[in-house]
This record gives sequence, C-alpha cells and structure tokens, in this order.
Amino acid sequence: MLGPRTEGAQPVTREDFDRVMHVNVLGPMMVLPLVLPYVETGHGGHGGVLAVLSSRMGSIGSMDSNGSWLYRVSKAGVNAALKSVALDARHATCVALHPGWVQTDMGGKGADITPQQSVKGLRQVLAGVKHRDNGSFFNHDGTPIPW
Ligand SMILES: NC(=O)c1ccc[n+]([C@@H]2O[C@H](COP(=O)([O-])OP(=O)(O)OC[C@H]3O[C@@H](n4cnc5c(N)ncnc54)[C@H](OP(=O)(O)O)[C@@H]3O)[C@@H](O)[C@H]2O)c1
Repeated sequence: MLGPRTEGAQPVTREDFDRVMHVNVLGPMMVLPLVLPYVETGHGGHGGVLAVLSSRMGSIGSMDSNGSWLYRVSKAGVNAALKSVALDARHATCVALHPGWVQTDMGGKGADITPQQSVKGLRQVLAGVKHRDNGSFFNHDGTPIPW
C-alpha cells in the first residue's frame, strides 16, 4: 500500500500511519515467523527461499529523494523484519526484492516495465539465490540493493 503521495517530509496523520504500517509491516511481521519453519524444511530439507516484495524506496542506503515518505518508512520496516527473520533461518534463504517500477495500479501506466517483465526477473532471482544470499536485498534483475 502506497499511502499518501507526499512531497518532502510532511507531518503524517495517525490514520495514514496505522493504515500503511499495518498492511506493509504488521502483516509481514505476523506471517513471516509462521511461514519460516515450512521454508526451513522445504526443498528436500535443504531449505527453500522466502522473499518479501519490498521496494527500493525502502532503501536507506540509496535514498536520494523523499517523496511518499510514509511508504519508504514502511518498506524500510519490512526490510528490517526480513533481515530479522533471516537471522533465525538455518537452511532457508530469506531475501527482500524490488520488483522494479512496474505498470500496476501502484506503478501507473508510465512505469518502466510490465508485470510480466518484473515477474520473469523476480522468478530468475528466486531460482538463482544461494544460502550465502540469506539476508540480502535484490533488484528484479539480480543486482544487490543497499539496505
Ligand atoms: N508497482 C511498482 O512500481 C512497485 C515498485 C516497488 C515495489 N512495489 C511493491 O510490489 C508489491 C505489489 O505492488 P503492486 O504494484 O502490484 O501494487 P497494486 O497494484 O497497488 O496492488 C496492491 C495489491 O495489494 C492488495 N492489498 C492492499 N491492501 C491490502 C490488504 N489490507 N489486505 C490484502 N491485500 C491488500 C490489493 O488488493 P485489492 O486490489 O483488493 O485492493 C492489490 O491486489 C507491493 O508490495 C509494492 O509495494 C511495487
């Protein structure tokens, strides 16, 4: 959920904060710990891949603009949640993914890539990750993104 399309760091209402943070952060924090045990034993006991659909807008390390800052904060939050889950993983590979700027309701018609192009890339990333990638953040083309 994108929430308010703001420019600059403007005051956030409690209502917007609760709505966006509940969907983007609380939801994953409720679900990820429950899903991890199944992913740990997946792939014939070698561990599967657990990914959250995050956004480059949640990257603090590469932040160079501050539009829609509530969304950015929520994605930084879910990234921290993913990283925490990755520290619990023994066999599973837990990653955060940026799908690109995609032509969806959120991305709009002027976005860079189609959902098909995004998903094709994301599937390749998911198929290619190794356990040493546990706790990493990847773009849809497989390049790493700083936290
Ligand atoms: N599009 C982009 O350029 C882009 C870029 C970076 C990251 N992302 C991320 O990619 C993911 C998918 O985004 P998208 O572009 O497909 O967005 P979207 O077109 O806005 O679709 C969002 C989806 O989330 C569902 N949703 C929203 N609130 C929900 C709730 N409370 N409970 C259950 N489902 C809910 C919506 O369901 P309804 O249709 O029923 O409302 C909709 O299917 C998101 O995590 C987004 O942050 C997207």
